[in-house]
Amino acid sequence: MTRARTTVVDNIGSLITNDPALGRGPLGILENASLVLGDTSVLHVGPAGAVADDRIDADGAAVLPGFVDSHTHLVFAGDRSEEFTSRMAGQPYDGGGIRVTTDATRSAATEELDRLVRLRLAEAHRAGTTTIEIKSGYGLNVDDEARALQIAEAHTSETTFLGAHLLPREFEGRADDYIDLVCGEMLAAAAPHAKWIDAFCEVGAFDVDQCRTVLHAGRDAGLGLRLHGNQLGTSGGVELAVECGCASVDHCTHLTDGDIEALAGSDTVATFLPAADFSTRQPYVDARRVIDAGVTVAIASNCNPGSSYTTSISFCIAIAVREMGMTIDEAVQAVTVGGAAALRRNDVGRLTPGSLGHAVILDAPSHHHLAYRPGVPLVRQTIGPLGG
Ligand code: NIG
Repeated sequence: MTRARTTVVDNIGSLITNDPALGRGPLGILENASLVLGDTSVLHVGPAGAVADDRIDADGAAVLPGFVDSHTHLVFAGDRSEEFTSRMAGQPYDGGGIRVTTDATRSAATEELDRLVRLRLAEAHRAGTTTIEIKSGYGLNVDDEARALQIAEAHTSETTFLGAHLLPREFEGRADDYIDLVCGEMLAAAAPHAKWIDAFCEVGAFDVDQCRTVLHAGRDAGLGLRLHGNQLGTSGGVELAVECGCASVDHCTHLTDGDIEALAGSDTVATFLPAADFSTRQPYVDARRVIDAGVTVAIASNCNPGSSYTTSISFCIAIAVREMGMTIDEAVQAVTVGGAAALRRNDVGRLTPGSLGHAVILDAPSHHHLAYRPGVPLVRQTIGPLGG
C-alpha cells in the first residue's frame, strides 16, 4: 500500500495552533515554525525546517487555522440590493424581505441554485473559510426546503433545516398551522438531509413557544439544535436556547444581564454576526461584557441576501475589533475554535496533530493585520477543501 504524500508549510513567521500547550498564549502561537500535513490531517507542528514530500514556503507569513463559518444562508436566488439601499436611507430592517427571496428561490431551477451556491462557496474559500454551515429557510414549503438541504449537503456536512424562518405568504394569519407543517411533513422531508434544526425567534417571525415546539420536534427527529435569537430586540431567544441546550444561539445583538448569566452557566455558544449588524444598522454587541462573563463566543458571516451579503470573515473580524470591544486575538479565536464550538466540533479551528489540515496563509507577518488592514484581501492561500 502506498503512503499518502506529506506537505510541509515551512518558514512560517507566526503559526496559530489554538492550543496553549503548543505555543505562546491562548492562541498557542509558534514563531519561526513549520506545519506538516498528511492527506487530510495535521501530522506535526514545530520549529521551521521540517521535511516532507512537498514544500510550501510561507516566506515569513502568518499561518492560522482555516475559518469556521458556523452561520450562513447560501441557498438562495434573487437580489435585495434595493432593500439594502433603502435601509441605508433610513428604512428599518424587519426580516420581511425573506419572502422576496423565498419567491425568487422557489422559482429558480435546481441547477441554477447549485451554481449560485458553488460561486458563493468559492468566494468564501478564497477568503479563508474551510468549514461552513449552510441553512435552508428560503423554500418555506416541503419540497423547496428539502431541495435546499439536498443542494447544501452536496457541499458540507453542516446543514441546518430552517423551515421556521418566516411565515410564508400562503399561511398569513395561520402561524400555528405552519408550525404544524414544519414539525410534521416538512421535518420528515428535511431531516434526512440535515444535521441541525434552527428557528428565527423574533417579533415578526416566531415567538418563544412556537420556536420551542420546533426545537423539540427537531430533537425528537435526531437533529442538533441552534436558534436565531435577540437580533432585533430581547426576544427571549437566548433563554430558550439555553433551556433547550442549543449548541449555539446566533445574533445576540440585544442581551439582558439575565441572558448573559444564562449563557455563562450553559454550553450554548453565543454567535455574533457583526456583518448583519453593519448591514441592518443595528447596534454592535458589547462583546467585552459577554466574554468577561465567561461565555464561549463565535463570530460568523451570516452570508444571506438580506441582512448580511458577505462571505468575508476578515471583514467580521475587523468590525468585532473596532466596534465590539474584542481584542484581535479574541476575534481570531471566535472565527476558528469559537466557530468549531458552535458546531460542536473539535477537529477543525485548530492546527494540532490529528486535527484536519485546514489552514490559511496570510499575505502578512501576523494575524493582527486582519484587523489592521480592513478590506484588504490578505489570504494568500487556503489549504484544504471547503466543506464540513
Ligand atoms: O440571520 N434573521 C433571520 N435570518 C437572516 C436574514 C434573512 C434575510 O433577511 O433574508 C439573518 O439575519
